[in-house]
Amino acid sequence: MGVSFDKIDGAMLLEFEKQPATNPTPEKERAAKLVDPGFGRIFTDHMAVVRYSQAKGWHGARVESRANFALDPATAVLHYAQEIFEGLKAYKRDDGGVNLFRPDANARRFRNSAERMAMAPLPEPVFIEAVEQLVRIDRDWIPGGEGSLYLRPFMIANEVFLGVKPSSEYIFAVIASPVGSYFKGGPAPVSIWVSENYTRAAIGGTGAVKCGGNYAASLRAQAEAIDHGCDQVVFLDAVERRYIEELGGMNVFFAFDDGSLLTPPLGTILPGITRDSIIALAKESGTRVREELYTIDQWRADAASGKLKEAFACGTAAVISPIGKVCSASGDFLINGGAAGPVAMGLRKKLVDIQYGRAADTHKWIRKV
Ligand code: COI
Repeated sequence: MGVSFDKIDGAMLLEFEKQPATNPTPEKERAAKLVDPGFGRIFTDHMAVVRYSQAKGWHGARVESRANFALDPATAVLHYAQEIFEGLKAYKRDDGGVNLFRPDANARRFRNSAERMAMAPLPEPVFIEAVEQLVRIDRDWIPGGEGSLYLRPFMIANEVFLGVKPSSEYIFAVIASPVGSYFKGGPAPVSIWVSENYTRAAIGGTGAVKCGGNYAASLRAQAEAIDHGCDQVVFLDAVERRYIEELGGMNVFFAFDDGSLLTPPLGTILPGITRDSIIALAKESGTRVREELYTIDQWRADAASGKLKEAFACGTAAVISPIGKVCSASGDFLINGGAAGPVAMGLRKKLVDIQYGRAADTHKWIRKV
């Protein structure tokens, strides 16, 4: 690609300077915010920040009070959207300890995203250290019960320049948000709108990376879903306009009467870490998992014939959410009579039990903080 970023390996030795907030949220106020946090509107007191410049490489690692960034109006990210992000969660265990779920997988995907977006790849140990430092300083913000602390690492192009080229400067940061369910109804079945007017990704594009632009491009279709009374949009492939790809912000699975599971193959979809974990959990319990193309017409036919038993969405934010209803311009259909089914709910329990430390971590997915 002709983009080279030097001074990267030295960053593995980065020490984070700590500057705790001088005026943190009072305990009572924090406790009130944790009662029913919803998703993505409440934030902790701190953030982790690391900067990159071609002259210095990765430097200036800090954990500091959460604050606004001052950006010149000509900062590259504001114009050409050179930006990537991740999502992972910290869970409070019953013994009071804290679990991170597969942060190494997020670090790897973040690096892959950076490479695709011609950004300076952040060394994976720095990503993990930044996340851990933030969780340590803001651990009192992790809700109890089924809540968690959603961690949002992201990187923006910070060079002040209007030419179209990879930025020579970046800001990597991690912020944290105590969360409950992504969907208002918790694990209750969601409804899905099939987007026939818009597509999400094409071969050779950025569908497989976690860049903000993919989500911006999904919003018109998501708005259409909301207009039709649905919770989420599902995208079809950009070439034949018939293969199921993924939802606006999550992957999708189908469960059949022969006991098998199907999920669309990687390529133009996001390689979800929850998707990957579900495949592993299902396979180890003897389920046949097919990573295969599946058309919208087949989905409709299988739902009608009873061959399809369940469908569910999955992602870090959504965990596993059953799909109860599919709506499209050519008509609606129910899945499992619109109710949550045992496959989705069983996999959900298996996954969250590992995440909260209630089940053995046989895959070594948990990193204790
Ligand atoms: C996640 O599940 O972490 C996501 O990134 C999906 C969405 C909230 C953007």
